[in-house]
Amino acid sequence: MSEEKKISIHGQWSSRWSFILAATGSAVGLGNIWKFPYITGEYGGGAFVIVYLFCVALIGIPIMMAEVMLGRRGRQSPINTMRTLAKEEGRHGIWSWIGWMGVLAGFLILSYYAVIAGWALAYVFRVGSGMIQASDSAGVQAIFSELVSDPEKLLAWHTLFMALTMVVVARGVKQGLEKAVRLLMPLLLILLLVLVGYAMNTGHFNDAIDFLFKPDFSKLTAGAILTAMGHAFFTLSLGMGAIMIYGSYLPANASIAQTSIIISVADTLVALLAGLAIFPVVFSFPDLTPGAGPGLIFQTLPLAFANMPGGLIFGTLFFILIVVAAWTSSISLIEPAVAWLIENRGMTRVSAAVWSGLATWLVGIATVLSFSHWAFDFNFLGTVKHNGVFDILDILTANIMLPLGGLFIAVFAGWMMKQKHSKEELALNHSYRLWWFLIRYVAPVLVLVIILNLFGLI
Ligand code: PFF
Repeated sequence: MSEEKKISIHGQWSSRWSFILAATGSAVGLGNIWKFPYITGEYGGGAFVIVYLFCVALIGIPIMMAEVMLGRRGRQSPINTMRTLAKEEGRHGIWSWIGWMGVLAGFLILSYYAVIAGWALAYVFRVGSGMIQASDSAGVQAIFSELVSDPEKLLAWHTLFMALTMVVVARGVKQGLEKAVRLLMPLLLILLLVLVGYAMNTGHFNDAIDFLFKPDFSKLTAGAILTAMGHAFFTLSLGMGAIMIYGSYLPANASIAQTSIIISVADTLVALLAGLAIFPVVFSFPDLTPGAGPGLIFQTLPLAFANMPGGLIFGTLFFILIVVAAWTSSISLIEPAVAWLIENRGMTRVSAAVWSGLATWLVGIATVLSFSHWAFDFNFLGTVKHNGVFDILDILTANIMLPLGGLFIAVFAGWMMKQKHSKEELALNHSYRLWWFLIRYVAPVLVLVIILNLFGLI
């Protein structure tokens, strides 16, 4: 590979730690705090959580290593990285489709992700103004329904969040992102711990532990297994090139295995802590149920804050941090598309950010309407979903597109790439063989089996 390819034209992280923080910023987001608790609630707890944890360990970590490795070797947007690497390995150019599918997935995910982040933004003001402080559980639920059934309000918050995202993307990932993440991610962790501390005193902490960790395998439907695997991809930002492009900004001497493990463990911890903060509250109020769907954290956390000393301040800060966590993830959802527009269409970073942001914003309107005028119920493998287009986009991207993207990445890294090359990039001693086995056999076979199982084919 020629010398000038050693650094991406888009820049490079100032250190290995910047990469870890940025990638953790991408991984830790709404997926951990909003989505993990509500899907765990919908799919019945323990058994679902165990499948998710297995998927993180056996599929997620090896694929994350593969994505970082491919990104760092290709040093361009995922589309061009895959094209370059396929050429280098003497393979067909069709492998660049991994990048194309990733760009599409990122775009679709961001379209609804920004709407949900908009809810969190709205809650900063609802909690901050004391509106929720004065409410009981019925009042808190009413505030939530009033928000989501008002498309104009949702559109305004969606627009604001998209604007925030595009500002950082336009400035370049390094300038805006590195600084924000360094300060805010540790703060998020501390506040989560405060919430878990509160939850421990609700008297229902043990019920939450049982719910999260005592498996009832009779609840493990094909839909639950697929969703658990899809969530492992979603929460670790895998299968669409987000981690690949962040890897393309990684200095050449950083250890890929170590960084990938740190990111995955941090991400998993945040999700479990969010579960431990939320379910004790759910079990303390008889009219709340774990299966409440996407509104779960918006109907539970405000109640916890309303009942704890300093709740107004903690509550406001917490929703600010959710917005920040979503922000650092949404940037990585659009970065592959932006990098490609710069590389192949000769756009400046600013116009690439504006155009891709506008397109995403427009598609997001379908999600805005999914909670009111366009809401409809449908049955997804035995679980009834209520929010039409939003649910369809979520299932399509997280449960189908990301796992398929991950499968192709695993096949490329494990079967198409010369072993000499992956060895060179990963620079591992004994554990290389373990990674090799996982990426070649375990990860692709598991993904395939779970997808085929879904269609009743095995
Ligand atoms: N990992 C993010 C979360 O858990 O909220 C969502 C996400 C970001 C998914 C980037 C995919 C991605 F490429």
